[in-house]
Parts: sequence; C-alpha cells; structure tokens
Amino acid sequence: KAASATAAPAKPKEAGPSPEMKPVTVLYGTEFGFSKEIAEKLCSQLKAAGCKLWPQLENMADHADGYDFSKAQVAVLACSTQGDGVPPTEAREFCEWLFAGKAGSLAHLQYAVCALGDKSYTHFCRCGKQLDSALEAAGAKRLAERVDVNKEDWPVVDAWLEGVVAAVRGMALKSFVELGLDVGDSSAAKAAAPKKWGKSRPYFATVLALEGLCTLSGPDDKNTVRMELDLGDSGIGYLPGDALGLYPTNQPQAVEELLRVMGASASESVPVPSWHYEEEGVAPGGSMPLAQALTKCYDIRSPKPELLRLLVAALDGTANDHAANGHANGHANGHAINGDAAAVPPQQRLRDALKDQAAIEAYLEPRHVVDVLADAAPAKLTSSQVLSCLRQLQPRLYSISSSPLEAPARVQVTVAEVKYLSLGKGRVGVCSTMLSERLKVGARVPVYVHKNPDFRLPADAAQPIIMVGPGTGLAPFRSFILERLLEAQASNGKKAPGEMVLYFGCRRSDQDYLYGDVLEGWAAEGKIKLFTAFSRQQAQKVYVQNRLTESADLVWGLLEKGAHFYVCGDASSMAGSVEKALLQLIGERLEAGPAGADAYLQKLSDTGRYQRDVWY
Ligand code: 2AM
Repeated sequence: KAASATAAPAKPKEAGPSPEMKPVTVLYGTEFGFSKEIAEKLCSQLKAAGCKLWPQLENMADHADGYDFSKAQVAVLACSTQGDGVPPTEAREFCEWLFAGKAGSLAHLQYAVCALGDKSYTHFCRCGKQLDSALEAAGAKRLAERVDVNKEDWPVVDAWLEGVVAAVRGMALKSFVELGLDVGDSSAAKAAAPKKWGKSRPYFATVLALEGLCTLSGPDDKNTVRMELDLGDSGIGYLPGDALGLYPTNQPQAVEELLRVMGASASESVPVPSWHYEEEGVAPGGSMPLAQALTKCYDIRSPKPELLRLLVAALDGTANDHAANGHANGHANGHAINGDAAAVPPQQRLRDALKDQAAIEAYLEPRHVVDVLADAAPAKLTSSQVLSCLRQLQPRLYSISSSPLEAPARVQVTVAEVKYLSLGKGRVGVCSTMLSERLKVGARVPVYVHKNPDFRLPADAAQPIIMVGPGTGLAPFRSFILERLLEAQASNGKKAPGEMVLYFGCRRSDQDYLYGDVLEGWAAEGKIKLFTAFSRQQAQKVYVQNRLTESADLVWGLLEKGAHFYVCGDASSMAGSVEKALLQLIGERLEAGPAGADAYLQKLSDTGRYQRDVWY
C-alpha cells in the first residue's frame, strides 16, 4: 500500500508559560543540528515531567555577548566540538565569553553539560569539557555528570537525559513570579532583534560565472570549477581565509527515485522543517510539496538510525504476509552458513544491522535513504515517518578564492567535483555536482559567509608567508596573494608585501594545474616564489612535502624571520605528511631532536603562525 497522502497539520501555536511555572534554561550550541535536537528533546521531556517545569530553549548563537544567568536556577547545556577542538561557528563567542570567566560568580546555579563530538578527531568533546570546567570554576554545582557523546549515539544521550530530568524534578525550584521574572521577556526580545545575513538567513546571490578549470577526462577524474557570485547590495563582507557557505539542492533524478520507492506523490503537502533557512515564498510553520522538501530541505543520503527501527517494525507488521516475505525468509539461513554478505537477503540485512550501534553505522555508511527503503520492500512507511528519519540538507563550505579588494561585491570559490564508488554504484557529491552539472549563469543560490578567524594573513603585511595548498587547497592562497598584491598596489608601492612562498601540487601541469597561468605569471614577475609538485608527470610520485624538504633552507630562514606557515587541503594524509616534513626540517636545523621540533611548532601554532584549514 502506498504511503498515506494526507497533508500534515500545521503546527499549533504554542501557549507561553504562566507565572507560577518554573523556568529551566536549556542552551545549545550547534553546527549541524544534533545539539539542538537533544536540547529540544530535553525541553519536551521537562514539559512532560509534570512539575510545572518551563524549559527556556536558547541558542548560544543568540548570546554572542553572553547570557544573563543571574536569575537562572538550572542550566542544561548541549554543545558540540568542531574540527581542531573549537566550538560550533555560531556558538564561538558565547563559549569564549564563558571560558574567559565573564559570567562572574554562578554559585547559585546548578548545571549539566552534554558534550558532543567525534572520536576520530584529536580533541574529542573539548568544547563541552571546557564549558563544564568553566561553569565549575564560576562556582556552579553539577546537577548531573557531564556526558561525552561520540557522534549520534542516542542510547547514551537518552540515558543522560533521563538522569537530568529526574534530577531537575527533584529540585526545589522557584517560579517566574517568585523570581520576579516576566514570562514574556526573552521571546519578545528575540523577535525584535534585527536580522543579519547568515546561515539561517542566506543571501540569494546571482551566479556570474561558472568555468571548468581542468582538462581531465578519465573515469576517476574529478573536474574543478571556478564559480563567481554577485553579492549585490547585500553588504556582505569577507576576509581572505573565510569560506562561503552554499545550500545545495538534491539531484532531480535522485528525488524522483526516492519518491518512487516511497510510493509517495511529489505534490503531497508536508510541513516546512523548522531548520529551513529563511526564503521568500516559504512560510515558517507552513507547508510545501514533498518533492520540494526532498529537493532542498532534507539530506536524502544519510538517514538517522531511527529509519531502520521503523522499517523493521513495519516489516514485523507484515511478517505474516508470506507472499511478500517468502523470498527473504527462504534465504535467511544461507547467510548464517556461508557468511557471504552479498548473499544476505535485503530484509535480513536490515534486521542484522539493528544489532548494535557499530552494525547500524556499518550498514548505513554506504547506503542512501533510497537503498535502505528498497531493502525493506515491500514494507513501506508513510511520508511523515520517512521525513522524521531524515536530517537537514547541510550547506557546504568552500574556501573563498578571491580577494574583496578585487571587487567587494563579488566572491569566487574553487570547487572540485566529488565522485566515489559505493555498493558498486557510482556516487557523486550533492553540491559539487549541482555546480558542475545543473547550475547556470544567472541562477540565484542561497549563500552566506562562514568566518574563519583561525586562518588569516598576518596583521603585518611585511611578514613573510609560506603556503602549502595542493589541489583545491590552493583556493584561500589565491585570495591571500591577491589581497597582498592589491594592497601594495593601492599604496603605490609604499607598502611592499613580505615574501610569499607557495607550494602547489596536482597530477599534471597540462591537466589540473589550477590557475596555472596566473601562478606562473606571479612567479615570473617575482611576486611569489612558486614550488610545484606534479605527482603523475614522472615515474615517481612527487608531492608538496617533497618540495618542502628540498627547499628546507629557504623555509627555515623565513620561519626564523617570523614567517607564518599555512596548510590547506586534504586532512587525511597530505596535512600530516606536510607536518612531518616541517618537523623534520625544523629538527635538523635546531639540533634539538624531535621534542625540540615539536615544541618549536607548538609555539608557532600558539602564536598563530602555524595555521591549517584542512578537511577529510
Ligand atoms: P596523486 O593523486 O597523484 O596521488 C592534488 O590532489 C594533488 O595532491 C595530486 O597531485 C595528488 O597526487 C596529491 N596528493 C595525493 N596524496 C597526497 C599526499 N599524501 N600528500 C601530498 N599530496 C598528495
């Protein structure tokens, strides 16, 4: 039976608290929405706890200048850690305010922290840990032990939430009226706050140019495009080092295929998800056609584990339908005997995956939503069930490769196509494919500037800079170099830029040498020192780190003169190899051994002279 085609009811407007209710502060800091989801779940559990509790949900992003804890009795914080151990972009100011002890004494406060992170990064849950110690240092008392959550481990989160709700229920809390608080305060203030362009309110920029930069043609070749956008009169500014956030849309064929497997109609009306960015013609709390929601609001690749549970429940509901399940059941034992994963019937594969978190992740990793739904056939879910298991389609971040001094209202990015193979199917990146295949000059795309304060040119333009950026890792360095050259030009040569050394690597000089002519031109005019590593142009691979080692004396000389050292690009192997080469050359010249080299590099890093913008 096809999924139900009933329109979801519009969200009823929520009534505010009454004065005798007891406020509980719930603060979240999020990059991709998981902390927010946890905070929202906590709020609904607190409301359901039946002790007149009134959770006040607050986004750290709305409290860049700090939060007034003076009348708060309980504060529950959920916050993730990003990249090199930093807070989510929009929570950064709030976190730094709290870390710096600017909240004053919080001896009256009880608190609990949920720290989110990813164990594959060095600083697992660092931000949550820092929030925990900052609150403790301010004199606040722990209501529950902090939990450190690896990725989206809901069972761990749920157990923690249960403990927190029980602890809050056991507290003697004062009501709004006893605290002398006006129940309408915070929400009214927020509604009146002026809105800026940003992640939740992107600017629809016009595409001015889209240009392929490579002449690759092999099956595993990935092309790279240069995209230029008009920021019009938005007033959006950026600095070299910043990234451009861009909201993609899913491929039309992928959406059609999903609708077919769901057995749903494209025009079915579904609610606009609460996370959807502000967009003309889309009413928050309103509805939109299912096809549109799947195209621009939902990630139709990586579903939540909940999808497996719902599908298995749906399968159990149809378990007696032998016509439907005979095939799957008939083969179920074969799996146990021969252990051949390929021979496992789809429905059994789905059931097996529910064994534990690791099995769920291993099952979901190579699959898109449509593959998971197909495994459960003929069991089906309603559209709203499927949507409840989908995440937000995230904006993609690309290092900006232009300088605002060229044209302040224009911005350029350099984007490599993403292509990979999984389950024997060729897959493509959502956003990079949109750029290389569907987007046309003149189209308008939702964008915002993602500040990157940890990747900046030296304040003093006379300081030398060393830049290592193979592939699209070159992007921010094109911006750095242009910025310095244009600045010098504007000063009529009075402000000569410090030395600029660039290490660039690609496969071949005639194939993927991004901005090759421009780079060669700068080098010929003596504006930059250029080292290139064309990895596939000779029998043996040559990489940027080899060039670094070969020019070790130059690098060391500049470092001793105060140079800043930058690395941009692939984190999984390039950035590590470059660091190794750097440590090696430092160690050899310091004659202080590996420990001395580590300490030297650490000092560079602590003083902002070793900066990396790397991605997996
Ligand atoms: P390869 O693909 O020929 O191995 C941009 O992608 C360039 O980075 C390519 O020339 C690529 O070479 C190279 N590259 C791949 N792995 C690298 C690594 N570990 N360190 C440095 N460069 C690498």
